[in-house]
Amino acid sequence: MKIEIAKTAGFCFGVRRAVDTVRDQCGKGNRVFTYGPVVHNENVVNELKGLGAEVISDEEGLSVLKPGDRVVIRAHGVPEKLIRKIRATGAEVVDATCPFVSRIHEIVMEESGAGREVLVAGRKEHPEVTGIVGWCPGRCTVIADREEALEYMALNPENKSFPRTIVAQTTYNYEKFQDLVELFEKRGYNVKAVNTICGATRERQTEAGSLAERVQAMIVIGGRNSSNSARLYEICRDRCERTFFINSASELDPAALRGAEHIGITAGASTPKQIIEEVTGNVRRTDI
Ligand code: F3S
Repeated sequence: MKIEIAKTAGFCFGVRRAVDTVRDQCGKGNRVFTYGPVVHNENVVNELKGLGAEVISDEEGLSVLKPGDRVVIRAHGVPEKLIRKIRATGAEVVDATCPFVSRIHEIVMEESGAGREVLVAGRKEHPEVTGIVGWCPGRCTVIADREEALEYMALNPENKSFPRTIVAQTTYNYEKFQDLVELFEKRGYNVKAVNTICGATRERQTEAGSLAERVQAMIVIGGRNSSNSARLYEICRDRCERTFFINSASELDPAALRGAEHIGITAGASTPKQIIEEVTGNVRRTDI
């Protein structure tokens, strides 16, 4: 039996870096907190808790902070005012914002500071988007899709020549971003587009798709409520009928793999390496 693990399976660069930062901070003698769970995976959050890292879920939770505490900012980033609020408690900010996200903060700060309106293609409720909006000193509007773009235009019919800059949430779909930009241009709006989409999600999906085409059974590991894992499953399921979506190694039914000589494995962005290894080990044992 041949087992092929996708190179892009599991944590992306930014998430890995944030998790490593929390691990590094633990055991240095200071109390360590993360603002929000550093990754949407209970095993990892619990492991970090075991090392001493507590999660602060919202601004009210900042009241527990004391001088000398360390607060790690996760890969999604946070609004600038939140960093100021943390510092005001005397705690130290350890910034693990993904550099690709920090770049968006810099762009919107600069563009907004130069008097342009900023448009963000993304989901309003996503923490990364809340963070981006929070780095704009001026007017900033979040647009989820074409429908919301049309609504925005209906509310701003005149004033098309006002300079606007459009950026995207890092995980936004590239084609959808292009469509939005084109829509604004075709309607005569003065927009400058900066593509801030990160390639990690797309690469993971492309690799999963091509792997699923080559194998006889495909395993996708990811959290039940992880949308990027569900999307990976859909992509693989379209190309390989025997695709299984599991959350942990114990969910894998060895009988389901019977007869498959080539098996592919991929995992969503919040799946730690250790779970991928466990699943791979179990698959190998089914071959004995
Ligand atoms: Fe990951 Fe950073 Fe891209 S967190 S998805 S590498 S923007």
